[in-house]
Amino acid sequence: ISLKLYNTFGIDVKASFFARFNNVQELQELLQQPEVKQEQILVLGGGSNLLFTKDFDGVALQNGIKGIEVLRQNEEYVYVKAGGGEIWHEFVLRMLEQNLGGVENLSLIPGTVGAAPLQNIGAYGVELKDVFYELEAVEISSAQTRIFSKEECQFGYRESVFKNELKGQYIVTSVTFKLHRKHNLNISYGAIKSILDEMQVKQPSIQDVSAAVCQIRSSKLPDPKQIGNAGSFFKNPEIPIALFKALKEQYPEIPAYPVSDISVKVPAGWLIEQCGWKGKVIENYGVHKNQALVLVNYGGASGADIQKLACTIIDSVEETFGIRLHPEVNII
Ligand code: EPU
Repeated sequence: ISLKLYNTFGIDVKASFFARFNNVQELQELLQQPEVKQEQILVLGGGSNLLFTKDFDGVALQNGIKGIEVLRQNEEYVYVKAGGGEIWHEFVLRMLEQNLGGVENLSLIPGTVGAAPLQNIGAYGVELKDVFYELEAVEISSAQTRIFSKEECQFGYRESVFKNELKGQYIVTSVTFKLHRKHNLNISYGAIKSILDEMQVKQPSIQDVSAAVCQIRSSKLPDPKQIGNAGSFFKNPEIPIALFKALKEQYPEIPAYPVSDISVKVPAGWLIEQCGWKGKVIENYGVHKNQALVLVNYGGASGADIQKLACTIIDSVEETFGIRLHPEVNII
């Protein structure tokens, strides 16, 4: 089966087998089938954070677990459990409808609820971990379910235990969020503030913040339905303050976000743009014109082409700035 429709880069590769599960029990039964047991397994969320460079010799599983339910609530919080197969943005819309705060800054992020914890999705000053309570996952080798607390997920910047020690070992079946009845808005990101000012809203609601985020994202980031891409291709590198100060002498404009007393994060998009890559088109793929951090497939490019471009960009940035970029996207 072709996986072209199951990855937002639109790369045309094949998987040896494909199956969909709609609940935990179906997944457990699948994992216990002898034919499946011998194979490598790949779970497809929205396919919005991966780049296929070759055919996948194994079983591709699509998470079809749906459902959003309130588990319990108190004066301050509402605990909401969502199926791993729910579309992330649809989940955000449901929370906005119910006036539950915490995910408004994460509006319009492509992908599914089940994929969101893997890389601790984040945008505009908020990360998934800020509203995460726990998740349920099924271990591939044993088909047993297990609950992971927030601590056990070991969230970091675009990181979790599922991208590290437990990589490829668990399938996330549902996520429980702890959402706020009383909202504390995060509008620290400059562009959100400017849009809210433009909208002339004095006391913005979570719905206003979401609208601002949607406006920013659609102006900067290509819609995967129109142009193949997987959002930020690289992580923003964290560099020592000493290196940052040295670079600042040479490039007074260099932006940075504070991280700790000894390091800062530099936007990879800026570094890539400075090296002349922004908007570059190579045959049918290239670097997005509005955000240099995003690599795009205009149609028909192979994953290997895009990987090669990524390597060339990494070398180019390292040569100019002495900083090595690392992919954020999962390369398969
Ligand atoms: N910049 C440039 N040129 C570019 C892009 C960015 O100079 O082509 C500089 C500008 O100085 C800009 C700064 O970088 O002010 C920051 O740019 P932006 O606000 O677009 O954010 P980012 O750091 O490039 C990160 C996330 C995005 C997230 C935004 C907003 C990573 C790898 N990316 O990008 O996440 O939406 O912040 O919070 O951390 C994703 O992970 O797929 C993603 C889109």
